[in-house]
Amino acid sequence: MTAVRIEGLRKAFGAKTVLDGIDLEIRRGEFFALLGPSGTGKTTLLRILAGLELPDAGTVLAPPRRTTVYQEPRLVQARRVLANVTLGLPRSAGDAGLAALAEVGLEGYGTAWPATLSGGEAQRVALARALVRDPELLLLDEPFAALDALTRLQMQEMVAELCARHRPAVVLVTHDVDEAVRLADRVVVLREGSFAVEQPIDLPAPRDRDDPAFIAHRSLLLSHLGVTPGSGVTPRSGVTAGSGVTAGSAGEYRHTP
Ligand SMILES: Nc1ncnc2c1ncn2[C@@H]1O[C@H](COP(=O)(O)OP(=O)(O)OP(=O)(O)O)[C@@H](O)[C@H]1O
Ligand SMILES: [Mg+2]
Repeated sequence: MTAVRIEGLRKAFGAKTVLDGIDLEIRRGEFFALLGPSGTGKTTLLRILAGLELPDAGTVLAPPRRTTVYQEPRLVQARRVLANVTLGLPRSAGDAGLAALAEVGLEGYGTAWPATLSGGEAQRVALARALVRDPELLLLDEPFAALDALTRLQMQEMVAELCARHRPAVVLVTHDVDEAVRLADRVVVLREGSFAVEQPIDLPAPRDRDDPAFIAHRSLLLSHLGVTPGSGVTPRSGVTAGSGVTAGSAGEYRHTP
């Protein structure tokens, strides 16, 4: 069954056309990842799917129950954790809020204040706030980008498990190619307003980044992102976490000025 259908989407800001002729269908339960250089319109596409931005042309069909997790947790500091999770929901949502907190490993944190949380914990609260709404469409805008490498790996695993259990359609925006290949059923690269490549990832879970098939996906996606030796775009070097886990991503990239 289809969760999202976009046909002929165009979006411009003033004279600048950001998205042009986008067609996209996402199945229920599908994990879809969107890569692309900075400023290519990834967040704009998410905002259109969230109903926060209107397209200039084309049709966009998205399910009514949809929710977004951003790069930063966006918690209300004056409210305790559980109140943040159930923000805007009826009082009766309290039990579901506690269950969502338990699902993200934050049992017992309901009465804590946001200021007392680590970055990873705060982001898990944001995830619980999304989960408790039982979304048919989960929009993730670089949700792990601000986390340290090890926490990021743990969060990726948690999101993979939660999505496998709850089966929302997911759109993940990321700059981390390995993250996309690790988590997604399908990855696209957005470049100059349209999809430069669309790549199904049919590797079994858990995915091993040293698997030749994983490496092949990574290389192809990086080439579509314009990451080739001497291109002026440097892959970010790997980081070795204290546990001996190599937690940096060979597939992560950033543009150098
Ligand atoms: N409300 C707006 N008004 C004018 N221009 C906008 C607006 N929102 C986005 N833009 C422009 O549209 C382009 C795409 O922005 P968007 O935030 O979607 O990029 P992005 O792919 O998410 O980038 P990043 O990877 O840096 O987050 C940018 O050039 C941005 O300046
Ligand atoms: Mg963005």
